[in-house]
Amino acid sequence: MMYQLTEDQELLLQTVNEFGAQRLAPTVLQRDAANEFDESLVKELLDLGLQGICFPEEYGGAGASYVDYILALRDICKYDDGIGITYSASVSLGASPIDVFGTPEQKEKYLRPVAEGKTLAAFALTEPNAGTDAASQLTVAEKVGDEYIINGSKMFITNAGPADVYVIFAMTDKSQGTKGISAFIIEKGMPGFTFGPEEHKMGIHTSITRELIFKDLHVPAANLLGQEGKGFKIAMHTLDGGRIGVAAQATGIAQAALQHAVEYTKQREQFGRAIAKFQHTQFKLAEMATKVEAANLMLLNAANDKAAGRPYTVSAAMAKMFCSDVAMEVATDAVQLFGGYGYSEDYPVARLFRNAKITQIYEGTNEVQKMVVSGAVLR
Ligand code: CAA
Repeated sequence: MMYQLTEDQELLLQTVNEFGAQRLAPTVLQRDAANEFDESLVKELLDLGLQGICFPEEYGGAGASYVDYILALRDICKYDDGIGITYSASVSLGASPIDVFGTPEQKEKYLRPVAEGKTLAAFALTEPNAGTDAASQLTVAEKVGDEYIINGSKMFITNAGPADVYVIFAMTDKSQGTKGISAFIIEKGMPGFTFGPEEHKMGIHTSITRELIFKDLHVPAANLLGQEGKGFKIAMHTLDGGRIGVAAQATGIAQAALQHAVEYTKQREQFGRAIAKFQHTQFKLAEMATKVEAANLMLLNAANDKAAGRPYTVSAAMAKMFCSDVAMEVATDAVQLFGGYGYSEDYPVARLFRNAKITQIYEGTNEVQKMVVSGAVLR
């Protein structure tokens, strides 16, 4: 593998993999079948200090590299990517914009508890009629004195409910299109802020997804994140990082699917020998392993760009698109190699197959990534 881990990264991944193997893997199928978001397991993850990895020490983080965070996320996702996306939505989407665009007071109040692992954060851009066309949102924020009054709703929000801190987007000036959108930090418990029922999803059952509902929600003007009208740019910048997180999730899924396929085909016998002895299986495993290797390289390429302070919009879009397609392909191949058992929810690969699908959709569909990449190619 091209990327040489540092000693600190080896230690970090040892901790993460022990946690994954001992605490996540043994119960993931049951929790998935029961649609269970296990708050106590998430708390154990937060207690490992993983949410603070790439945030400044000044605000309760470890001040380590963004690459360390991405490696930890990828490896969590090998065992339970529903818990992985909980972690990624909190760090990449919820807390990162506060780190990048927040005032010192906002960071102290809202970034610190997330970096210290005391709570989760969330990010809310999508609405029932504004997904890919994020600029067409209807949630409005009206400035009245030293407050904003927010009305509207947000859909498909990961961590909605358990999170205490939310970065949300609303129109402060409808006539200005993308330049009329502003970002706000809101807290669970603010009057006028409630949650819809839990979403019934195809996969990632161990994560939680709900609607956010704002009805005359009064938010102090001090909770405006960045300047008025800069919300769309804040959202896009945040999603650039979120997409590396989805690439990490997808790579973790693909690695897990490959690993399960290797183990299964070595012990499953048909026609008097292990199916791994058949050349079709060997060639399929070779293709899967090559794709997993390439996904890792794309993932690390984007993560390194971000860690080094280089532009990463395009490498993140490429990694998100590539790694999620690899996750879908490798999970599909793993189901096929498992045969009938691949279609059974009592075996591990059906869950990976269902979960791989969302990585091609959320935080910008792969078609959105193609818009971003082609825009750069043709510039
Ligand atoms: N960083 C900073 N600014 C950016 C940017 C970026 N990556 N991309 C665009 N901008 C800026 C542009 O510079 C432009 O600013 P100016 O007008 O000052 O030049 C402004 O934003 C508008 O840019 P575009 O005209 O390119 O925007 P657009 O309306 O054509 O949209 C899009 C482009 C790529 C389709 C974009 O809307 C998009 O990414 N949509 C998908 C949204 C998305 O990913 N949603 C997922 C939500 S999160 C989730 O999935 C839930 C979860 O909890 C996991």
